[in-house]
Amino acid sequence: MNIFQDWPEPIVRVQSLSESNLQAIPNRYVKPLSQRPNLLSENYHTKNNPHTAAIPIIDLGGIYTNDITLQAKTFDEISKACRELGFFQVVNHGMSPQLMERAKEIWREFFHLPMELKNMHANSPKTYEGYGSRLGVEKGAILDWSDYYYLHYQPLSLKDYTKWPSLPLHCRETLEDYCKEMVKLCENLMMILSRNLGLQEDRLQNAFGGKDEAGGCLRVNYYPKCPQPELTLGLSPHSDPGGLTILLPDEHVAGLQVRGSDDAWITVEPAPHALIVNIGDQIQVILQMLSNSVFKSIEHRVIVSPAEERLSLAFFYNPKGNVPIEPLKELVTVDSPALYTSTTYDQYRQFIRTQGPRNKSHIDELRSPR
Ligand code: OGA
Ligand code: NI
Repeated sequence: MNIFQDWPEPIVRVQSLSESNLQAIPNRYVKPLSQRPNLLSENYHTKNNPHTAAIPIIDLGGIYTNDITLQAKTFDEISKACRELGFFQVVNHGMSPQLMERAKEIWREFFHLPMELKNMHANSPKTYEGYGSRLGVEKGAILDWSDYYYLHYQPLSLKDYTKWPSLPLHCRETLEDYCKEMVKLCENLMMILSRNLGLQEDRLQNAFGGKDEAGGCLRVNYYPKCPQPELTLGLSPHSDPGGLTILLPDEHVAGLQVRGSDDAWITVEPAPHALIVNIGDQIQVILQMLSNSVFKSIEHRVIVSPAEERLSLAFFYNPKGNVPIEPLKELVTVDSPALYTSTTYDQYRQFIRTQGPRNKSHIDELRSPR
């Protein structure tokens, strides 16, 4: 239920701009000085750079064994990672490297189809499903240097194959396999997070409206080469509005940066075959977490490259659209009153869909008055 039927301005594909060999990027993409990345001094060249993050790598193989000690150790590692940076990588996560590669290949092919074919899937702000080039509907807004494709995998009531790409051939089968594995991983992580907090293992899942009703959607980000990467961003700072995000990054081109505890931007260097996990705003609310405490949703952004395009697949696992999202009753006490007022995910996500990415300002609006 979006009141916006269409984009406020004609859509320009960033890929078309990039391929037209401009020397200078249009003003629409030039960020104010304070928001520009500082590519020269720190983050850009990731190898041997002190600002490149050693974000924790967790071997998830441990949770799938019968070795109880190893299982407990893995749970602890996840707990620690959630308490520290809030972003971590997982390996041995159950998804085969072949499937990950196939999924990336499909999307590389998709974004290199002729523009007329891609535009047959052009999206609108009504549901955002399909091929898009902006987040937010504010007229005259400064835009990000990226195109994307967005689709729903679950719940079944929202899954609509006509909104999925039709080419490359057989892409839907691969996407099915990929999303199915993603959901399995998310369900496992939801269980681990609950247990790590001493809650019933299905507690978080139930707060999301149960397994069948939880949302699962895929956003494929395509960041074309940019002639002036120092002036713009591929994706502006934001925290993910939903529950959990599992990112399949581009192993060849760095770009994702997370906001460290000292506010510096840290460039993530992904490990081979790793997936990157982070917590979204809904879990921060449900678990009654402050922005400066554990299990918070971390701010992140993406920088772009003058020499290489970059592709990433972000899978979002979200609460059912219309269940009330609020701090769990058992976490709210007289001494620790509810930090956030109740919302629904359908309501909450309207913010990013109309305003575009805006740091963590939305979750701060939900803070209970003191
Ligand atoms: C996102 C996101 C990061 C990336 O899609 O929400 O943060 O590396 N993507 O593309
Ligand atoms: Ni994100």
